[in-house]
Amino acid sequence: MERLYETRFDAVIGEQIRTPKRTPARINYSVGAYKYEKSADLADLALLEKIANLPLPPEVPVQKLPYMHMTHERARMDAAGVTHVHHFFLPRAAQALAALWRKASAERDGRLRNMLLFFVEQAIWTLSLLNRYRPTGFSQVNQYLTGVYYVASQHSEPSPWYVLDGKSKRLTSTFSVQPRKAGIVTNQTGTCAVFSVGDSAVDYVFTDPPFGQNIYYADLNYLVESWHRVLTNAEPEAIVDRAKKKISSTIRR
Ligand SMILES: C[S@@+](CC[C@H](N)C(=O)[O-])C[C@H]1O[C@@H](n2cnc3c(N)ncnc32)[C@H](O)[C@@H]1O
Repeated sequence: MERLYETRFDAVIGEQIRTPKRTPARINYSVGAYKYEKSADLADLALLEKIANLPLPPEVPVQKLPYMHMTHERARMDAAGVTHVHHFFLPRAAQALAALWRKASAERDGRLRNMLLFFVEQAIWTLSLLNRYRPTGFSQVNQYLTGVYYVASQHSEPSPWYVLDGKSKRLTSTFSVQPRKAGIVTNQTGTCAVFSVGDSAVDYVFTDPPFGQNIYYADLNYLVESWHRVLTNAEPEAIVDRAKKKISSTIRR
């Protein structure tokens, strides 16, 4: 069937944009231990409209998606109405995620702030349009297709607490058995072609290198990295990247 589009003004970029028309279909909610479903009523629609008219918070990244294999070739994000990063989020999810990001960023202790941002970061893909509605899934969390950007025809937009409550419990139990002292671990990110550790300084190397052209790591990290305002320099990435014209023979050389 032909997809129905609508045009609206995007105040952030000051342009008319064309997006697939979306209509709220079902609301799933709980009262105590009981779960219910209903259609969106006039009050729900009015609330969504009110949220849609709020200004986009500054925490939400708004830059134009660069030309990448994952967003422009493997799947056409523009066909899903996504040409800029903020288009991945419907208004309500954008407001919720921005509020969480703002609160986490305001923490003064650096280690705690990083931990909180790591925690909030876990909700980014689920709160984006990439989260598919899967009525038979165990939950509506992490229902995006892994390894690609794919916007399905039916989207599920859970609440932040639905996404994060379980994760907060699991993260707490995971990290409660980790060493808690600062300064005993060092992390470094960067290309392995430039390695700053001196000679005779390494006891053991464990490596998990990239796989040819199966996973476009930098492209897929782009969404989360945009929130951090820190982006991978994908030029030295050791993968076959069609958009960047990196093919196997160039990598072998
Ligand atoms: C198979 S994944 C490793 C996954 C990781 N062990 C984990 O559990 O999350 C390969 C990683 O290599 C990284 N990578 C690609 N090219 C690289 C390069 N030139 N130098 C360093 N890392 C690179 C990718 O960004 C990706 O994160």
